[in-house]
Amino acid sequence: MLNRPSMRVDVGGIEMKNPVMTASGTFGYGLEFSRFLDLARLGAFVTKGISSRPWSGNRPARIVETRAGMLNAIGLQNVGIEVFIKGKLSKIREIDTAVIVNVVGREIDDYVEVAKKLKDQEGVAGIELNISCPNIKYGGISFGQNPNLSAEVTQAVKRAAPNKPLIVKLTPNVTDVAAIALAVESSGADAISLINTLTGLAIDINTRKPVLANVTGGLSGPAVKPVALRMVWQVARAVKIPVVGIGGISCWQDAVEFLIAGATAVAVGTANFINPKVTLEIIEGIERYLIKNKMRDVYQLIGSLVTDEPGPQGKTDCCA
Ligand SMILES: Cc1cc2nc3c(=O)[nH]c(=O)nc-3n(C[C@H](O)[C@H](O)[C@H](O)COP(=O)(O)O)c2cc1C
Repeated sequence: MLNRPSMRVDVGGIEMKNPVMTASGTFGYGLEFSRFLDLARLGAFVTKGISSRPWSGNRPARIVETRAGMLNAIGLQNVGIEVFIKGKLSKIREIDTAVIVNVVGREIDDYVEVAKKLKDQEGVAGIELNISCPNIKYGGISFGQNPNLSAEVTQAVKRAAPNKPLIVKLTPNVTDVAAIALAVESSGADAISLINTLTGLAIDINTRKPVLANVTGGLSGPAVKPVALRMVWQVARAVKIPVVGIGGISCWQDAVEFLIAGATAVAVGTANFINPKVTLEIIEGIERYLIKNKMRDVYQLIGSLVTDEPGPQGKTDCCA
């Protein structure tokens, strides 16, 4: 097709061919999905969380389906940075897309150790700092719920790998998400992504026990979308750096909503488990929307929310 609209975006120094990424922990190390789709068509993919040593994660049961999503308490099982670099990165870096490594830790030093090892790795387009996981006892969310600790870990990781664009991933389990966003922005974050999962609970009424061995888990999927969209809108208005919208995105219409709310890119999580090709359908849907609305560049859509007058009541769930 002649005159296709430009879908290119820049997320804090990470150049992407389109604004659609995969969300950490829902796309393995990337290669697992290569038999379902051409990974090079993605704007970027984000690896599962990588720690300084291998982690075995939580005891099962670790996931349970809910009415409009799922609860997980995987506990960030991963192979650790050494095995990731030797065994996975050499293959992943061959793919013609931006590869973003999600980093997790229990202490600031853990995050710093991983960042230092990634600093000189070719084929790592950026780092996503996970300070928002609700499923580990120490680290994760305990950083992301406190503006001072969020700032401290952001600054330490930026210092450890100043050459790699840094996306800081925020938790929705806070009262004032904009305050945390401003704290990480002023501490060196190049972009912000949100939301991670919302803490939830499921109980088996026959045994009266929690369904998950970890007791609580993180809620994701369509149920969280309106909360995620509201938070992305709030944060995009508060900060100057780009925002990656995440949470319940299941079809291109959801993604368009996040872009209108101010997200420069979107990441798709739980929907990959239902349809492993969903990201490609979302890329195509956004492009069609731009053409239909005579927009030549996706940036015309980003942050284009009209708030000066109320619109007619429209459909709130557009997924076909
Ligand atoms: C099974 C599972 C594992 C996840 N693992 C990670 C992880 O390792 N690091 C991280 O930052 N987020 C992780 N997340 C959170 C997702 O990246 C995403 O922020 C969240 O699920 C909301 O998006 P969604 O509703 O599209 O799934 C995980 C989510 C799920 C469902």
